[in-house]
Amino acid sequence: MEIITKIAVRKVLHSGIREVDFENLEFGKFIADHMLISDYNDNEWDLPRIVPYADISLSPAALALHYGQTVFEGMKAFRMADGRINIFRMEKHHERFNRSLHRMCMPAVPEEIFVEGLMQLIQLDKDWVPGKEGSALYIRPFMYASEAKMGLQVSNGYRFLTFTGPVPTLYSKPIKVKVETEYIRAARGGTGFAKCGGNYGGALYPTQKAKEQGYDQVLWTRGEDNKFIEESGMMNAMFVIDGTLITAPLSDTILDGVTRDSLLTLAKDLGIPIEERPVSVDELRKAFINRSVTEAFGAGTAAVVAPIQTIGIEGIDYHLPAYNDTSVLNILKNNLERIRSGRQEDTHHWNFIF
Ligand SMILES: Cc1ncc(COP(=O)(O)O)c(C=O)c1O
Repeated sequence: MEIITKIAVRKVLHSGIREVDFENLEFGKFIADHMLISDYNDNEWDLPRIVPYADISLSPAALALHYGQTVFEGMKAFRMADGRINIFRMEKHHERFNRSLHRMCMPAVPEEIFVEGLMQLIQLDKDWVPGKEGSALYIRPFMYASEAKMGLQVSNGYRFLTFTGPVPTLYSKPIKVKVETEYIRAARGGTGFAKCGGNYGGALYPTQKAKEQGYDQVLWTRGEDNKFIEESGMMNAMFVIDGTLITAPLSDTILDGVTRDSLLTLAKDLGIPIEERPVSVDELRKAFINRSVTEAFGAGTAAVVAPIQTIGIEGIDYHLPAYNDTSVLNILKNNLERIRSGRQEDTHHWNFIF
């Protein structure tokens, strides 16, 4: 893509990169040198600018702080086998960001700002994109209502910001999840499909309680009746039952995960049967009893797949068999990693390389 937007750049005087131990990265520990900022006021976007990563100042009356008009995204840039940089499925993340913004009465961020700004930001901080297989530069675009005003109302001012940081290969140690039937994450007509801050704030307390009971995460169930599995933490939930890869269909209570979509597409390519349909808690329990469920996992940008070892249903823990190289989750994960690193043909045009 040709870069047409003029983005003012103010570089750091001293890069922080020398403090980073790329061999021992920790998720969220290091932030790259620069960030992208664009402000929206009076129905117009300012020209974006790239500046050194630093604290921001905010009025205590900024509407985002009180009424939750905040939206974020999470995506990754990878170092390919030939050294070039690939932002994986950037357009799909941009589309989802704008869908979330729409639900929160916030203005869409145009492509010239989101896509071109991001390309220039990553180009400038390209040395921060780690090379070790599986590691990546995590990208966090977000936006908040910046207008300072008392009283619940739609803000007239917003700030769009993007910063990045190198993250390691997440070691996918199998996790223990609890089917949550007391609290809910989303309800029909609500904001479950949007990546707005409130969805995550509301999930903390039930997740904390599940952790106290020895689980890593909760498996959310449908709000109306707690009878159908929806998703898990910051991941979509997938199961292999009788050899078919099954996941809940998209709806307004489920986030349209980029990893979910990628894995379903790859499974189709590989001839693995897939079904997007509701999975009931009852079906899952029966599938454990007759041993037809062989895999369960979360799918998301951070880990790609998070294998599930144990699922707690109404106080009883059910266990999955051990995973190996022939498990569907590993076949799909390895396929995706080969495409992202350029070792396998990108037939779906997911890579945004520069
Ligand atoms: C609630 C929720 N579900 C699923 C996902 C997985 O989506 P993706 O694969 O796009 O990271 C995320 C992470 O963004 C999430 O926050």
